[in-house]
Amino acid sequence: MDDLLNALKAVAEPTRLRILALCLEGELTVSELVRILGQSQPRISRHLKLLSEAGLLVRIREGSWVFHRVAASGTGAQLIARLGDLIPADDSLIRRDMDRLLEVKRDRTESAAAYFREIAAQWDEIRSLHVDDSDIDAAINKALDWQRISSMIDLGTGTGRLLEHFGPRLQRGEGIDMSREMLAIARSNLEAAKLPHCQVRQGDIYQLPNASEGFDLAVIHQVLHFVDDQALAIAEATRVLKPGGQLVVVDFAPHDLEVLRDKDKHRRLGFADSEVAGWFRRAELTQKPTIKLKGSPLTVCIWIAEKPDPAAIHQPAPPASPPIPQPATRISQ
Ligand SMILES: C[S@@+](CC[C@H](N)C(=O)[O-])C[C@H]1O[C@@H](n2cnc3c(N)ncnc32)[C@H](O)[C@@H]1O
Repeated sequence: MDDLLNALKAVAEPTRLRILALCLEGELTVSELVRILGQSQPRISRHLKLLSEAGLLVRIREGSWVFHRVAASGTGAQLIARLGDLIPADDSLIRRDMDRLLEVKRDRTESAAAYFREIAAQWDEIRSLHVDDSDIDAAINKALDWQRISSMIDLGTGTGRLLEHFGPRLQRGEGIDMSREMLAIARSNLEAAKLPHCQVRQGDIYQLPNASEGFDLAVIHQVLHFVDDQALAIAEATRVLKPGGQLVVVDFAPHDLEVLRDKDKHRRLGFADSEVAGWFRRAELTQKPTIKLKGSPLTVCIWIAEKPDPAAIHQPAPPASPPIPQPATRISQ
């Protein structure tokens, strides 16, 4: 009763309700909320503190940034799930907030796109500074069931390196990326590697230009720390996987290299296993064991999951083989 009353009290204020409506669209930092709501930082921080204390939002501190997202469990989470339907989408303030939220998201995307435009030519060098590519490739190679893989989609393919590596064992490979500059390099790499069955095209990983259930393998390699809605990216990857298809997510374990935010436009400083497991659960994927490759100073994690195949699950067990007739001599023994 107390939890519910506290949550209801916290919700019953216009700015706090607007904050909840915004956080229902994805996690936000204080400065993003300040920009959208047009109120001072101390004011917004006070509202956020109240919403967190009432169990409606959770605060995730990562270096100097704090992300706010709607609670996933408890009374607050149940209340916020119901509130989502009640918040009037046509209210003029809510509409304006959502327009500004779109602007914030567009700016984020543009800043990441500008970064990749600029570094496209040096990306292969930058990536290999973290953990040796060949160690990651070898670990993925070993972990997957290649007997069931003939098609692969590489989400946020960049210069197409993974398509180049896995291409020779595929019948069909596709890379999706939003950056034309990255794609131009990927195209020439794939041409040079003589892999005409591996193609790349421009697209958004949140809204893939692909039909559902088309691939045996989906890979998201060093992309999630740039984006703001990892759960949506995983859900989209799951959509394009065939039943029984495998998903590989490669990214960093939690770290505190704030410099990667300023220099390399990382939004998130790595991910905890529990967070990734939560996205997999929401996408109804079955998680496989995680692989960790310790680098210095960053650890690379390879999280693997499989899309359940209802046909395989419900297939009747093969009939038991008939008993092998025993020779008469045995019976009498
Ligand atoms: C760090 S690079 C990784 C490239 C490649 N996977 C690799 O590991 O070499 C991240 C890539 O994700 C792409 N990207 C970021 N956000 C994206 C989005 N929303 N849709 C499509 N591509 C995106 C960027 O353009 C960039 O090429």
